[in-house]
Amino acid sequence: MKRLLLKKTLESIQEEAFDETHSLRRSIGPVNLILLGIGVIIGAGIFVLTGHAAAQNAGPGIVISFLLSAVACGFSGLCYAEFASMLPIAGSAYTYAYATLGQFLAWIIGWDLILEYTLGATTVSIGWSGYFLSFLKDLGINFPAALSGPPYDFNPVLHKWFLTGSLFNLPAVLLVVFVTSILVLGIRESAAVNAAVVFIKIAIILAFIFVGIHFIKPALWHPFIPPNAGQFGMFGVSGVLRGAGVIFFAYIGFDAVSTLAQEAKNPKRDMPIGILGSLFICTLLYVAVSLVLTGVVPYARLNVPAPFAVALDAMKLYWFSPLLKVGAIAGLTSTVLVLLLGQSRIFFTMAKDRLLPKWAATVHPRFRTPYVNTIITGCVTAAAAALLPLGIVGEMVSIGTLLAFVIVCSGVLVLRYTRPDAKRVFRAPGGAATPILGIVSCLYLMAGLPVETWLRLVIWLVIGLFIYFTYGIKHAPAHLKSRVRLSVTQGD
Ligand code: ALA
Repeated sequence: MKRLLLKKTLESIQEEAFDETHSLRRSIGPVNLILLGIGVIIGAGIFVLTGHAAAQNAGPGIVISFLLSAVACGFSGLCYAEFASMLPIAGSAYTYAYATLGQFLAWIIGWDLILEYTLGATTVSIGWSGYFLSFLKDLGINFPAALSGPPYDFNPVLHKWFLTGSLFNLPAVLLVVFVTSILVLGIRESAAVNAAVVFIKIAIILAFIFVGIHFIKPALWHPFIPPNAGQFGMFGVSGVLRGAGVIFFAYIGFDAVSTLAQEAKNPKRDMPIGILGSLFICTLLYVAVSLVLTGVVPYARLNVPAPFAVALDAMKLYWFSPLLKVGAIAGLTSTVLVLLLGQSRIFFTMAKDRLLPKWAATVHPRFRTPYVNTIITGCVTAAAAALLPLGIVGEMVSIGTLLAFVIVCSGVLVLRYTRPDAKRVFRAPGGAATPILGIVSCLYLMAGLPVETWLRLVIWLVIGLFIYFTYGIKHAPAHLKSRVRLSVTQGD
């Protein structure tokens, strides 16, 4: 009877998690997992933020920042893989936290994930707008400056906000409206479309690297780590560290691979290959790209929305510029799509758990998509993309995601002790060392982010606590917590 109850509980969880989709088939092999990973990972991080981080924080040392970030992601990636193979439902960090750390921390992480997904989509949309405007300019079309950017921006050197003269970022808004419409209609990216986009992204990046190598002036790499400019995070070792926290954004998305655990043909082997393989390939590409970028243009000139274009202009490869922009525009669109898709599914699950109002789980009768929360998320993302500056939003995404990784690594650690018996299809190697190193390295990267970003995170979490104690705790039934725990113990 007990067994039956456990089984039924497990089935009901699966039903809740997937009732807006068809049943899941184990059809994805390791290559497709890697391609999906690269499809989400490569986006505004490399195409946009690398320029900001090189110009403001690390100089050519941004290469080291990329390596530091990759190591932190590697530890967390292993923990994600362990969780993904352990919980028999398409997971997100929210679900993992619910199963191991309880409802309260699940809410915290769910609230925190808004920073990763919604603000992540905002950041990528702003980056998309930069490349789009630059592409229009190549075609001789001058978009009105008043509709090309946020009204305010922040100067980190003078530590001051300033008026940009623009009203709002119209192209970013239009992209979000377009992507949201696709998500509501339920047109999902097929593996073939994703593979094509990934192919375009990688081809463009490889072409940039192989062409750019011939234009490198090694003198521009000296000093590789420019001396500190008198403030923590502005060059020097602290700049490399802060740069790592900022461009950590470029790796975000590998965690999305873990949500496909149930659809992998052989999760035990394929999950780590998918997660670590996509991380490894992206790291190689990122290191090579940043070597070229800082080798062909003085790093101080890279603080623009389209740094690749600046580098190509410096190489006088004017013909390549429009091609690169088309690749970036296509690649960034798919990243926004997947991030907003992830956000809507997390809200959907949270509403099913009654931590959010019921309407957030309303599924469209014909399209079978959680359209209400998708549209609201789209409106919020569009407003944020219209009004907020890129650098500030990107740092918020990085700190929010790093916090999510810390909680996931902690969850793995907790389960190693509280549920040593639970079935683990994949176990991260290195015993407790891997989750501990994951926690430490993510905290280390967080430590490098500006105090203002920490403050914004604290304010965000306080708002989240307020909502939990005035809404979630009253509506979410306590039994949900134990219900998910049972499924873990069973380790089906
Ligand atoms: N890693 C993704 C990007 O760089 C979010 O756009």
